Amino acid sequence: MNVEKPASPAPSRVMSGHRPTGRLHLGHLLGTLNTWVELSKTAETFFEVADLHAFTTAFDQPQQIRDAREDLILDWLAAGIDPARSTIFLQSAVPEITELHALLSMIVPVSWLQRVPTYKDQIEALGPEIATYGFLGYPLLQLCDIAVFRADLVPAGKDQLSHLELGREAVRRFNHLYGPALVEPQALLSEFPAVPGTDGRKMSKSYHNTIDIADDEATTTKKVRSYVTDPRKVRRNDPGRPEICPVFALHHSSNAARVPAIREACASGALGCVACKSELAETLNAMLRPARERRASIDRARVDQILRDGSAKAREVANATMRDVRRAMKLID
Ligand code: TRP
Repeated sequence: MNVEKPASPAPSRVMSGHRPTGRLHLGHLLGTLNTWVELSKTAETFFEVADLHAFTTAFDQPQQIRDAREDLILDWLAAGIDPARSTIFLQSAVPEITELHALLSMIVPVSWLQRVPTYKDQIEALGPEIATYGFLGYPLLQLCDIAVFRADLVPAGKDQLSHLELGREAVRRFNHLYGPALVEPQALLSEFPAVPGTDGRKMSKSYHNTIDIADDEATTTKKVRSYVTDPRKVRRNDPGRPEICPVFALHHSSNAARVPAIREACASGALGCVACKSELAETLNAMLRPARERRASIDRARVDQILRDGSAKAREVANATMRDVRRAMKLID
């Protein structure tokens, strides 16, 4: 008998997003955006401008949130996200997400949300006044971003794992109570090592130690010159310890072929930090040039159009899920 091969497993539907809070940097590009671009070649991808999530901590800055939208999308397009392939949308323009959030809020215990570690950590970092109802619900809203598209794969950083775990529990509870209308998402963890910033700490906007995608080449060179290096390598010919030097770490991403030679020359004292940084600045600028040229060439009016089209497409998918959700909860017949 001729049996047809079982269909290969359905390709993943991928969902991820960023809050519009400022320009993206090299850490985002190497750790996240490159993965998004790769995934978009084989999977259906949804990328969200999470403006409502930005309101959870910056509710008094609506204009900043509005203004950051454009930069975020320009950075995504610069990195190679292609709106013809990926659905790029605005969270607040897909009201099905907030509807799902309201419905799921009925079945998610407050204690589940209070025990998500970022809740306490962020209140400690930013003060008790950020502890709004919406802020407590942040991880549930994030789940709704994902679940409304029935996405099964979420590329995310380690810091997002506790949110995804809460989200999976919420989906399990929904499916148990009302029937299997929602899909439990899996995290896809980035394996890329943390990218060091100019002060040697993890590159982060809040540390003011970033090299931004949108920086020009002179700014990049200046920032590379300001990097901390091995404090024991005081003079040019002192032997250095490349394994603790953030400049050496960065050579891996833009100048991989030269890493063994640089390691040796630094350790022996043959290579000084000034020359090492010049080489890094050159290779980083070369690596970033295509993204920067793409960014500069994008007509800003196009950004609005991309978001409008993407949000309309996102709503179609979200609507199909919500019909099943409303039916499962017997809100409609
Ligand atoms: N919380 C994420 C962050 O701060 C942003 C985000 C919002 C997100 N919704 C999402 C990420 C859904 C993945 C999936 O980076």
